[in-house]
Amino acid sequence: MTQHYTITLLPGDGIGPEIMSVAKAVLAVVGEQFDLDFTFQEALVGGAAIDATGEPLPPSTLEVCRQSDAVLLAAIGSPQYDTLPRHLRPETGLLALRAGLGLFANLRPAKILPQLLHASSLKPEVVDGVDIMVVRELTGGIYFGQPRGIFALETGEKRGVNTMAYTEAEIDRIGRVAFETARKRRKRLCSVDKANVLEVSQLWRDRMTVLAKDYPDVELTHLYVDNAAMQLVRYPKQFDTIVTGNLFGDILSDAAAMLTGSIGMLPSASLGATAPGLYEPVHGSAPDIAGRDQANPLAQVLSAAMMLRYGLAQPAAADRIEQAVLQVLDRNLRTADIMADNMTLLGCQAMGESLVETMRELQGN
Ligand code: IPM
Ligand code: MG
Repeated sequence: MTQHYTITLLPGDGIGPEIMSVAKAVLAVVGEQFDLDFTFQEALVGGAAIDATGEPLPPSTLEVCRQSDAVLLAAIGSPQYDTLPRHLRPETGLLALRAGLGLFANLRPAKILPQLLHASSLKPEVVDGVDIMVVRELTGGIYFGQPRGIFALETGEKRGVNTMAYTEAEIDRIGRVAFETARKRRKRLCSVDKANVLEVSQLWRDRMTVLAKDYPDVELTHLYVDNAAMQLVRYPKQFDTIVTGNLFGDILSDAAAMLTGSIGMLPSASLGATAPGLYEPVHGSAPDIAGRDQANPLAQVLSAAMMLRYGLAQPAAADRIEQAVLQVLDRNLRTADIMADNMTLLGCQAMGESLVETMRELQGN
């Protein structure tokens, strides 16, 4: 029986539209192959929305997202908007989208593909076999804590303030997602905090320890964030699932991503309790290569696969896309960011065409 899905596409800025058009083509093929009927609706976010409407997240975009089954985002941001007041910046639109949809759990897998072992800046023996899932809290912590602002002191000097705060309920809900995630993986969860200095981290650690009693099959460990950063580049294979707050997760997920050689390969999923999930590559809008057909669309395509797996419960369709990605790499096809000796260099669009072709072949087999 045909399954119908309404998908909101948010191409955003920079390379966003190019990589989104590849993902759309891939979804159209997987739809035919697995009897999924996608209705795509596009909406504006980030710089594209600022240009058209004056604000980075128009209310109509949030509404369209809310009324869809899943949201696929490419990337937002461009240096031309960096001087705008904070509330008008593209990044503020993304944060408002996460908050507006209640997407408190951000899943960022960093898995080394054997084909890209040599693309990593670390030694192959250090990264070979790395398979980490970073579970980042996404709607709380210092990104959203109050008070915040730049305030004038009586002396006239300015003081910048942000607040890192978590309630027990916020910690518990991300903790449960992390324990459940670890349970489906290798059953090891490392909670990252700064409990040696920060009270908010002490509460975080205390709650994780309490929650662990409900998941006796999952082994919980704790690391301070500075040590975790060091361990990620020293011996990344020690990690299975990592759970951490918004800011630490932002930083550690970039570090984990780079273990794999290119941030251009990594997808992510942002999930809430009820609203549709948001699926997006970990990388940014790469304004330096925008419009030149040089971008790597694979993280976007893998984000579409995550959408099928986590958002739409279509694991076979997700598998098909992931297989096609592995196969194009096996055929030594590469975009510039993952290019190596004796490989064939492709642009963004040609990479998309190879994926579609490979998916058709996989269907034939
Ligand atoms: C990310 C990005 C965002 C964040 C920015 C663009 C607001 O770095 O998704 O990791 O800090 O969360
Ligand atoms: Mg980041």
